[in-house]
Amino acid sequence: MDLSQAKQKDEKDPLSKFRNHFYHPKKELYFDGNSLGKLPLKAQEILHNSIQTQWGDGLIRSWNEHWLELPKRVASKYAQLINVENDEVCIGESTSVRLYQILHSLLNSGSFPKHLKTDILNFPSDLYIMEGLEKEFNILPLKVVSYPNEIEADIDKLKKDIKENPGIICLSLVSYKSSFLYPMQQLNQWATKHDSIIVWDLSHAIGAVDIDLKETETKIALGCSYKYMNGGPGSPAFLYIEKALQPKLFNPIQGWFGHQKPFDFSKNYIPAEGIDRFASGTPSILSMAAMEAGVDLVLEAEIKTIREKSTLQSELFLKAVEHKLTPLEYAIESPLEKDRRGSHVTLSHPFSWQICQALVAGSEFHPKIIPDFRPPHFIRFGITPLYTKYEAIWILVDALKTIVETKAYLNFSKEKTIVT
Ligand SMILES: Cc1ncc(COP(=O)(O)O)c(C=O)c1O
Repeated sequence: MDLSQAKQKDEKDPLSKFRNHFYHPKKELYFDGNSLGKLPLKAQEILHNSIQTQWGDGLIRSWNEHWLELPKRVASKYAQLINVENDEVCIGESTSVRLYQILHSLLNSGSFPKHLKTDILNFPSDLYIMEGLEKEFNILPLKVVSYPNEIEADIDKLKKDIKENPGIICLSLVSYKSSFLYPMQQLNQWATKHDSIIVWDLSHAIGAVDIDLKETETKIALGCSYKYMNGGPGSPAFLYIEKALQPKLFNPIQGWFGHQKPFDFSKNYIPAEGIDRFASGTPSILSMAAMEAGVDLVLEAEIKTIREKSTLQSELFLKAVEHKLTPLEYAIESPLEKDRRGSHVTLSHPFSWQICQALVAGSEFHPKIIPDFRPPHFIRFGITPLYTKYEAIWILVDALKTIVETKAYLNFSKEKTIVT
């Protein structure tokens, strides 16, 4: 692909109009939507109204007029996106807290062997939560299945482990480092057959991969809304629990918002019916209001179209990397097959960290380009079809090439900063 072909692709792109729905800082290219999505213009408008009119003028009246209905309205939009019923999804808290709640309730339910399992590709926060629960419940040590590399899971090994030690398993549908995409339905069926359940963390998948939780026979899933869903920094997580399991599961954080009748202010806790019992405290209204703009855009664009463009753009990027960058010591750290990859592409290089800094700094040869870095040497490039242009991918490849050819990366320190 050359620059003019890239521009032609942008002209024909059915999603091109969605770029105009986001705020774009001048003169920089953003490839970190897999970490924090861009600001939808509508979110600015919603926040202004929520602050000025609802909080400022409406004050306490806004609970009845606007805010009490908000969590359910946003939940129904997430439900539509993942093809489940409205009363199977709730919104609130962070992914880490949601994971704690659901694993705790599963361990208490008696429905599955009390054994926690994950794998080495999962996000560290998920591992920490499970380690804590292992101590709290005084159960067998958490099993972390490992593989020969950090790129892909060995599905046969994982299945063997589930069969030998059934229990409660947590996996990230798209792995945060390499973008490996698990065969969801196959694993769900295997887990069910072997007296186990998989809790899917969809943080790196939702809004980029078309996920049908019914078709894949998923029982529990959760994830954050601030990546491809463009919900805003720290926007609330979503939690899905299939209807049949709901009566067996109870929220370990028994707050008033999960009470059957919170505004009766009775002395004893009576859990609300169904998924409503997984609420704990007062919802974060401003964050939740802003996140609605993000899910509305994904629904309007349609997830199948988003996935198609993500696949096309990733393939073009990978092809260009193979031709132009692997001779310069870049290596591809994501699966090559489209059905086994999410929407970010990971590369490495002996000077990954310094290259990352050179991209972010920009130069006379290229604009500022924002990817992110994950230790020990991964540079991740998020493809976000609602606003990533084909032209941007062309400029990115050219910049990666120039930085190595001119040794521009040597101008940057080997020392790591905190947030990258
Ligand atoms: C896969 C995955 N799980 C969990 C988390 C933690 O999410 P939170 O900070 O909302 O608890 C993240 C954060 O990036 C993530 O990528």
